Formats: sequence, structure tokens, C-alpha cells
Amino acid sequence: MSAPIDKNWELTGEDLARFEAVVAQYPTKRSALMPSLWIIQDRDGYVCDAAVNWLAAQLEISEAKVREVMSFYFMYRDTPQAEYVLQVCHNISCHVMGARPVITHLEKRLGVRLGETTPDGKFAIEGVECLGACGMGPCLQVGKHLYEHLTNDKIDAILESMRRGEPLRADTDRELEA
Ligand code: FES
Repeated sequence: MSAPIDKNWELTGEDLARFEAVVAQYPTKRSALMPSLWIIQDRDGYVCDAAVNWLAAQLEISEAKVREVMSFYFMYRDTPQAEYVLQVCHNISCHVMGARPVITHLEKRLGVRLGETTPDGKFAIEGVECLGACGMGPCLQVGKHLYEHLTNDKIDAILESMRRGEPLRADTDRELEA
């Protein structure tokens, strides 16, 4: 039997303010679904059942609609994730530019294979399709942060910075507009 849904789940403070600002940008509440999912995922790392329930009520849509969008787009997550999910593009342009050696280097450095998570839950490596930066490959995305023209040295510096818990500073940071 699944756990009962936390009916007290909600966005608060700055996150709630971001959500309200996003909703206000659209002519209908339902249109704010995707950016709202980002706000929740930004805060919690994933979108739990209680968040789906809350969001559906706020946007006056069904929970099934929320889940439909979440299951269609791979970037939305419904289970807890590694602290850093390293998404390496392995589509054709990045492949030609050296995605495979990048993946091999990451696997060696982290001691896990593509698709796996480190035992401490800190890092996961995922292979993904085009990240929309084909001219800058090989590239790697972590949340909204895109790292371009990867080399082994650059990967080592990125991992070291993450281990030190520094704020992510990528080549391109795709911030939400709110
Ligand atoms: S093929 Fe890698 S970003 Fe497009």
C-alpha cells in the first residue's frame, strides 16, 4: 500500500512568490504547469505525490494532467534523485565531438557506470539526447546548468567544485523567468 499523501505540502516564501509570479504571466492557470513543475523540482529535487496534488489544485487541473506532462518530458522526476544528476549528451554531434571519452572519464572518476548513482547518492550519470548545444559539444547538463566543450580536466574541475559544495557556475545557466 502506498504512503498517504501529505495534505500539508505546499510551496512557501520565495518559492511560493516565484510560483505566483509565473501563474500571473499566463492567461490561464493551466498554462503555468511546466514552469511550476520546475519551481517545485528546483526546491525539492523531484516532484512528489503531495506536490502533484497541491499543484493540480492550484492550477485547477486534474492530477492526471500533471502526471501526463511529467511522464512526457524526461527532465521532470517523480522520485528522489542523486544530488547531482550529470546528464551527458550522447547524440550524434556530441558523439562526434567526443561524448564517449567524456562518459568513460566520468565513469572512472565516480566509480559507477552510465545510468548508475554513486553509493553516497551524490552523483548519477545519465545519457541524454540533444541538449540544444550541438556546436558546443561534448556537453553536460546539471539541472539548468550547461557545461560545454568538455575535456577531462574540465570534468575534474566540475566534480571537485561539486564535492566542495560550491554553487554551480556553468557555461550557460538557464534560469527560470519569474
Ligand atoms: S547533439 Fe549534443 S547538444 Fe545536440
